[in-house]
Amino acid sequence: MQFDVLTHPTPTSEQRRAEILADPGFGVNFTDHTAVIDWTAQNGWQNARVEPYGPISLDPAAAVLHYAQEIFEGMKAYRHSDGGVYTFRPFANAARMNKSAVRMALPELDEKVFVQALEELLAQDKEWVPTGEGEALYLRPFMFATEAFLGVRAAKEVTFRVIASPAGNYFGGELKPVRIWVSRDFARAAPGGTGDAKTGGNYAASLLPQQQAAQKGCDQVLFLDPLHDNAIEELGGMNVFLVTSDNRLLTPALTGTILEGITRDSVIQLAKDRGMQVEERRITLDEWDRGVTDGTITEVFACGTAAVITPIGELIDGEKTIASTGTGEVTQAIRDELLGIQLGTVEDRHGWMHKL
Ligand code: PLP
Ligand code: COI
Repeated sequence: MQFDVLTHPTPTSEQRRAEILADPGFGVNFTDHTAVIDWTAQNGWQNARVEPYGPISLDPAAAVLHYAQEIFEGMKAYRHSDGGVYTFRPFANAARMNKSAVRMALPELDEKVFVQALEELLAQDKEWVPTGEGEALYLRPFMFATEAFLGVRAAKEVTFRVIASPAGNYFGGELKPVRIWVSRDFARAAPGGTGDAKTGGNYAASLLPQQQAAQKGCDQVLFLDPLHDNAIEELGGMNVFLVTSDNRLLTPALTGTILEGITRDSVIQLAKDRGMQVEERRITLDEWDRGVTDGTITEVFACGTAAVITPIGELIDGEKTIASTGTGEVTQAIRDELLGIQLGTVEDRHGWMHKL
């Protein structure tokens, strides 16, 4: 697809950019440009362009503002020692976005065009990739309904955009084990719902439980499946893994109510490569509790693009602290290997990296 390029007339100064890259935080600073493609039911995808980053104008009746017809993706770009900028498994994100699009009655976008949009944006904003420990340029592709119409049906006008934001540790500061709050009052998703689509509404629904978690001094919420003996599902924005004392790796199966994490899939592959037996199945909170108590579960970690691999230190279930583990050896080894591949210091034997 042909992208028109309109460069920013007053881009961020080199000095300001250096200040931002020195301490990027997460999701608070944005690069100078955005990639955009519009869609209409009549003409399909059109008007692809890279334009200056800035506020956008929307009709107050735009469907996304009323019925939340919206999907998004999250990925990262890394600068390698050859000077090139690479991203991780972008075609997997493109495929997942199309799956979300189908569920949310949004149009699918050619996977090659999805990746091209990242390339076109990075062609302008390569200087924004931070290189500090644990840092990357977070890429946020998203699609939303712009049609001004209050009837409840799939919109006939939609926009796809990509924005980019220099990012450090999602949880702030140095990597350390996080505290997780078990959400007993609220579930995240139900069978037949939108749990496996990456759509804004899932995250809106997670905010109140996330606030409860924060009030209890926790970093994230663990959602359960109350229909199946409180099987563990996932965190607000991450998948979960448990390591056993006999070298097995356990993670909740993809039942339609959790997001099919690309980090999750990659961790499963890396674990199999190191000879671990991986079990994707139902895991109850009781099994976690018992396993940690009797020593058969030795490590627990969360994973996702933003969080990379973050050890779970404590799990707080009401008045009870269920688990307490530090950063275990397996967690650390898989994290080092995954980050090594992403940063270009470990051989990319699965062909996961894509040069932008
Ligand atoms: N689960 C949820 C709810 C998420 O938001 C994310 C983050 O994208 C993940 C899991 C992990 O997915 P991925 O590894 O593709 O980033
Ligand atoms: C990601 O990891 O990309 C996400 O979308 C999760 C969110 C918590 C930032």
